[in-house]
This record gives sequence, structure tokens and C-alpha cells, in this order.
Amino acid sequence: MFADFANHWIIAGVSADFRAGKLYPMTVAGERIVLFRNATGILSALIDRCPHRGVALSLGKLHGGVVECPFHGWTFNGEGACLSVPWNPDAKCEKLSALALPVREAGGLAWLYTGFRPDAEPLPSESLSAPGVVLSAQSALWDIHWTRAMENMLDSPHLPFVHKATIGRFIAPFVHGRMDTDWIETPYGARIENRIEGRDRPARLDFRFPNTMELFIDPPGKLLRMLAICTPEKQGQTRLTIITLRDFARARLLNPVFRRMNRRIALEDQAILESSQPSEVPPAGEEKSVRTDKPTLAFRKLYFERIKGSRAEPYS
Ligand code: FES
Ligand SMILES: [Fe+2]
Repeated sequence: MFADFANHWIIAGVSADFRAGKLYPMTVAGERIVLFRNATGILSALIDRCPHRGVALSLGKLHGGVVECPFHGWTFNGEGACLSVPWNPDAKCEKLSALALPVREAGGLAWLYTGFRPDAEPLPSESLSAPGVVLSAQSALWDIHWTRAMENMLDSPHLPFVHKATIGRFIAPFVHGRMDTDWIETPYGARIENRIEGRDRPARLDFRFPNTMELFIDPPGKLLRMLAICTPEKQGQTRLTIITLRDFARARLLNPVFRRMNRRIALEDQAILESSQPSEVPPAGEEKSVRTDKPTLAFRKLYFERIKGSRAEPYS
């Protein structure tokens, strides 16, 4: 299960966006998953496939934190335990469990494990615990392998070309000079620093293994950061989730302003990226690269060494 994306903690969304009493289906690396709050409010996740006849539990009902399958009404709690089987009061419920996935809530985010036995805990960015930070999330589906989307997030030389009128506008006058890029390994992945000849302020972004980029935008005296999360849904399809973190303009009614800006920038990337061939990044030697491709090549190395080829085995 979770072929080529197994055994990682990934961000499933903003914690507060998962409300009690509702089922939240999502697809990760070909596996349907359903998230919901159990009877005590703890966020839980099950493989969205009834162990009886394989239908989507997310089409069923949630009563007091217990899911009822839409087909024959078997019920399951947040740990996947079967609680009841209609017409069969004698059923051996302990043998009829659904598959549960590890979930955590940390740093205001919901984390999902693409496997069954995590050997570590998720590592939220320090930005998430800064005082007064508010989060707003949005997402879109791109027709491209997630590795191309992820690389794009780590790639700065494209900014003045793809984002001429938006985030690339300020560096456009410098493109004939030199850009230097450092990839500094850290416990969470890597810190990328870009210096542009003729500009004094280096730009910082972080790669958070396996599929998140954090951009430090910070206007003077304020905190403004963006998490871009590239999650494979099915082969060749990426769920791009953008979470904005800010400590100013905190009113919720301003969320649409940030969303509109993010959407415009994401659409600029999407139009170009979806034309990439092949859809999945190839090994480094199969495309031509230059010095400023250091971060994307470093990501590619991690992908081939630590992500591609992974599989998760369900417990039995
Ligand atoms: S398929 Fe779920 S109860 Fe039969
Ligand atoms: Fe971009």
C-alpha cells in the first residue's frame, strides 16, 4: 500500500478544519482514506474501504464518532474496531476490523502517516508555534506527478518567467546576473538560501521532507509564511495544498484575500508544469541541469533514495 510514498508523516490539513460529526475523504498515493473525529474528539483515519465488501466508508454516516458503512451498516470506531454487524448478533466483531492509520494533531495541523507503524513523530515547523499565528488552507488538483510539483516549489530561477507579474516581478531586472543557491541539510530536510547578485537580502525557503516547502516571506516586523504541500493522489495527480501562516491581518474574513493571491500564483505554475514530460522526475542524468538546479537535484536524490520504491504492509 501507499506505493512509492509509504511510511512518511504528511500534513493532511489544518487541524481546526476537521470538525466533529463529519467524514473527510481524501486519497493519498492511490489509497482512499477517511478522516473523522471519534467519540472523544480525537482525529482518526481509516482506510476508506469496508472490510466486508470494499465500499467507501466515507459514503456512510457518522453517529457519535462511529462510522456506519453505507452498504450493510457495520459500524467502526476511530481505531477501526468493528462494533456491530446488523442481522448477526453472533458475529465475531474482533475479526472484522477496518484498517486504521496513525494520525496526530501538532502545531495546529493534522498529520497522517502513510503506513501503519511510525518509528518517529511528525516534526512541525517552528513557525507554527510563533505567537498569534493564524492559518488558512486551500487546495487544488494538478495533473502532474507530485515530484514535478515539489521540485517547482524548491526552484527559484523560474520566478521571473512564470510569475512575471506577481512574486517574480522584483527579481526580473536581475536575471542577467548571477544567482547562488545553498542547500543546507537540517533535521527536517534542508534550508535553501538564494543570493542574487546586486540584491542585498538573501531569500530563504525550507524543504520539509518528504513533500512540503516552507517559504519565508516575512514583511518587515511581521510573520508571513507559506507551506506548499505536494501530495500524490493517484498516479500522475497531485493535491497541492497551500497553508498560509500570518501574525497580522488576523481576521478570518481576510482569508479570501490570501487565498486569491495564492490561487493566482499556483495557476501560473500549474499551466507550465502540467506540460512536463515525463510526468515523474527522471534520474538527474536524463535532463540537462545547471548550477542553480542544486535544490531540485538534491530533492531528486532524496526521492530516488528514500521515497520511490517504498511500500507499507498492513498489520494483520
Ligand atoms: S460493505 Fe460495509 S457493511 Fe457490507
Ligand atoms: Fe512557481
